[in-house]
Amino acid sequence: MKDFKIDQNKIPKHVAIIMDGNGRWAKQKGELRIFGHTNGVDSVREALTAAGEIGVEYLTLYAFSTENWNRPKEEIAALMDLLVQSIYNETDELNKKGVKLATIGDVEILPKSCQKALIEAKEKTKDNKKITLILALSYSSRREISLAIQKMSKEVSQGELNPNAINEDLVSSYLSTADYPDPELLIRTSGENRVSNFLMWQLAYTELYFTDILWPDFKKKNFYKAIYDYQQRERRFGKTSEQILNHNA
Ligand code: IPE
Ligand code: IPE
Ligand code: MG
Repeated sequence: MKDFKIDQNKIPKHVAIIMDGNGRWAKQKGELRIFGHTNGVDSVREALTAAGEIGVEYLTLYAFSTENWNRPKEEIAALMDLLVQSIYNETDELNKKGVKLATIGDVEILPKSCQKALIEAKEKTKDNKKITLILALSYSSRREISLAIQKMSKEVSQGELNPNAINEDLVSSYLSTADYPDPELLIRTSGENRVSNFLMWQLAYTELYFTDILWPDFKKKNFYKAIYDYQQRERRFGKTSEQILNHNA
């Protein structure tokens, strides 16, 4: 089938992607940055299709960070318009592919038109079961963790939460990703080797895959290549290689 021999028994349940390099891709072509963003939508479709085909259950895409609000306002406006357009254009396709749409981040501070499109698309896709597409919008991991601490602190001060009950599982349950398993694989395109405030709690034991390919050039075969690369790794979780190979910890 694909260019890479993917082991169907070792498919990650959750893949997260930092879709980076749209601006540079456009610049290389002598175009405006937004041209890169527009072309990046095709890559979103490809990644989602590829993920669905091999049985990935959750795909989280970093679409707009809290820090991205510091970009020129024209670029922000164009990105928000593109988001609305894409949601309207793709909702039928999402339903055909069995995709349930979800979001993490401060969605309530997005323009009203985006919020409306997101609410409608979530409602229309809510019964789909094949794959959950989680869009990170106005997302910041440090902010997410701060909000979780705020919420826990309030509950402690009101006597609703015992501080001794705060453990890793409880912290996870206060994050916006409470309903999802941690990603086994993180992909970042465009040659940047950093996390940029994305899922920092959730990535504790995630395999990181960096590629120089710019996001608009990232196609199905590149997605499969990342999965293949992931499957060659030995995930030790602190144990020794011998323990992993003998399966008896
Ligand atoms: C990623 O591409 C998309 C967003 C952050 C919204 P960039 O816009 O960051 O592209 P580069 O990094 O400038 O090339
Ligand atoms: C990270 O990309 C955010 C998204 C992909 C949405 P950036 O391009 O904003 O990241 P930095 O600022 O270069 O680290
Ligand atoms: Mg970038």
